Amino acid sequence: MNPAAPAQTAAPAAPAASSGAPARPGPRRVRTEVPGPRSRELGERRSEYVSAAVSPAFPVFIASADDSVLTDVDGNEFIDFGSGIGVTTLGHGNAGATAAAVDQIDRFTHTLFGVTPYEGYVEVSRRLALATPGDFPKKSMLGSTGAEAIENAIKIARAHTRRNGIAVVDHAYHGRTNLTLGLNFKATPYAIGAGPRPGEIYRTANSYPFHDGLNGSDAARRAIAYLEKTAGAENLACLVIEPIQGEGGVILPAEGFLPALQEWCRAHGIVVIADEIQTGLGRTGRMFASEHFGFVPDLVATAKAIASGIPLSAVTGRAEIMDSMSPGGLSGTFSGNPVACAAALSVLDQLEAPGTLERAAEVGDRIGTGLRALQARYPVIGDVRGLGALHGIELVTPAGDPDPSAYRALSRLALERGLILLPGGSDGHVLRMLPAITVSDALIDEALAILGEALEVHAGS
Ligand SMILES: Cc1ncc(COP(=O)(O)O)c(C=O)c1O
Repeated sequence: MNPAAPAQTAAPAAPAASSGAPARPGPRRVRTEVPGPRSRELGERRSEYVSAAVSPAFPVFIASADDSVLTDVDGNEFIDFGSGIGVTTLGHGNAGATAAAVDQIDRFTHTLFGVTPYEGYVEVSRRLALATPGDFPKKSMLGSTGAEAIENAIKIARAHTRRNGIAVVDHAYHGRTNLTLGLNFKATPYAIGAGPRPGEIYRTANSYPFHDGLNGSDAARRAIAYLEKTAGAENLACLVIEPIQGEGGVILPAEGFLPALQEWCRAHGIVVIADEIQTGLGRTGRMFASEHFGFVPDLVATAKAIASGIPLSAVTGRAEIMDSMSPGGLSGTFSGNPVACAAALSVLDQLEAPGTLERAAEVGDRIGTGLRALQARYPVIGDVRGLGALHGIELVTPAGDPDPSAYRALSRLALERGLILLPGGSDGHVLRMLPAITVSDALIDEALAILGEALEVHAGS
C-alpha cells in the first residue's frame, strides 16, 4: 500500500474570485513553483535518457499517491482527476487489490498460462463472462494492454468471419501499436513518421450531437450508408467502437445510434467489438458504458481499471467467436499475469459490492452539476457532457470553434493550484476528468473550485 501522503500545508484558502466564482475550500496544496526543483532535476535527466517521444503531459514527478491525491517529489499535492487515464478507478493504493496482489506475489509471480495454467486466469474469465453485457455463453482471452486486447479482438473477428475489413468511427482512439494506430482518428502524434499504416480500415462518422445535431437513427443511417459505399458490408469483419469516446473528447452518442449500428452489423454478419478500455468497469456508473445505450456487443475489450494499475487486459465475448483461432493462436508471455489476475478479482469484488456503482453515478452528478454552473458563467465552455466519473468540457472560441489554447491555459492554471485535468478531443480542446469513483465530495468540490479559479483567471487574461 502507498505510504501516507505528507501532511497538507496549512496555508490559507485561496481568496474568492471577484466574479463570485466558488471559493476554494481546502488548503493550498502546491508549495513550490510547478515543477518544483526536484521535479526539474528529474525532468532534465528524463530528457537525457528517455525518448523524447515519451513525453509526460505534466512535468511533476510523483513520489506517492493515496486514493485521489498525488504527492510529488517536492511535496506538492495534486487532486488526481486523471487516474493515470482511467486506471485507478478504485483509487490509488486500493487496499483490496494491493493485498490480493501481494498475496499472489508471495505464492508465484509467473508461470505463463499457456505453459502451466493457474486458477486466477480462469476465474477472471468466468467473472468477465458474467459481468459483460449479453446473456449468452462467453469466453475470454487475457492480455496485458488495451491495444493488445483490440488487436486480439480484431484477429478473432477476422478468423471468425474470414473477412478483412475493419470499420471504425471518427475521433476514435484504440492504442499505439501498428494495427491500432491505423484505427485512430488522429495521425499526429501517434502515426506520423511511423511508416505505412495497415490497410482494410474504413472510417465513418460517429454520432457527435454537439456538432452534428443528428438524432441516433439519422447518425446511424449516415454512418452505415458511408460504410456500405466505401467498404461493402460483406467485406467487413468487425466494427470497433468506444461506447463513449474518451481520448476523442468524452463524446456520448445520441440515443439509438449504437443499437442501430449493432442491428446492421448483425444483419450482415459483422462482429461488433466494444472498446470499453476507458469506459468499462464502473467508471460511468454502470459496469460497462454499453449498458447505458442498450448496446450488446459481440466482443468487449477491457484493460486499464481492471487490475487497479497492474497491467491486464481482456477480450470477452460470444463463445463461438472467441473459439475461432487455432489453439496457441492467442496469448503472449505476460498475458493474464497471475499477480494482475489476483488484483482483478479484488477489483471485480469491489465493483460488484452494493453501493459502488451508485457512488460512481453520484460522483458524476456532483461533477456534472458543478460543471454546468461554471458553463453558465464562462462562455469558453461550449458543452458539458459525461456519465459517472467520466466527464468532459468542450472549450470553444467566441466564434464556436475548438479552442485548444484554452485547454492548455486552464490545465496549467489548475496544475499550479493542485489539480490534474487531462486533455481530450481531436483538436486537444476538451478538458477531460476521470477521477477515482472513491473520490470524496470534499475533493470534488475543491477540484471544481480550483477549476472555477482557473476559468476566472483565464477569462481575465
Ligand atoms: C478507448 C481506449 N482504447 C484503447 C486504449 C489503449 O490502451 P493501452 O494504452 O493500454 O494500450 C486506450 C488508452 O488510452 C483507450 O482509452
